[in-house]
Amino acid sequence: MAERFSLSVNGQPREVVAEPDTPLLYALRNDLDLKGTRFGCGSGECGACFVLIDGRALASCDTPLWACAGKSIVTVEGLGEAGKLHRLQEAFIAEQAAQCGYCSSGIIVAAAALLAENSRPSETEVRAALDRNLCRCGSHNRIVRAVLRAASAS
Ligand code: FES
Ligand code: FES
Repeated sequence: MAERFSLSVNGQPREVVAEPDTPLLYALRNDLDLKGTRFGCGSGECGACFVLIDGRALASCDTPLWACAGKSIVTVEGLGEAGKLHRLQEAFIAEQAAQCGYCSSGIIVAAAALLAENSRPSETEVRAALDRNLCRCGSHNRIVRAVLRAASAS
């Protein structure tokens, strides 16, 4: 049976009426019109749907709404400020770190979680932090360069 869920999304209080087991990803895209978070595998394997939940990069396809109550959710849309991209987004553009871009939002979210914990990661640490994110276009080296560029801009 559908229930009403009060969520904190990108710093704003939002409400969703849905079944408790509805994946957070569906609520973000279909109810809250936040299309930046992507559906890839739907089973927690690819990272395309990552969002920050209380600061941790987690698969929103694999997180039910009932588990999100009272937590802070940040999507790729919430990383920057009005009229100003997040430094990771600027670095991805500068390094042209995508081909199709389908993986980008999940990877940028995972990188944001890394930089919040470790503002000057090594290349090895960047690669380890992005290990759960797949990129089918083979943009990995550019992606790592972009994260290191963003780190050096902090
Ligand atoms: S769509 Fe969620 S991990 Fe792949
Ligand atoms: S740029 Fe296409 S999947 Fe990564």
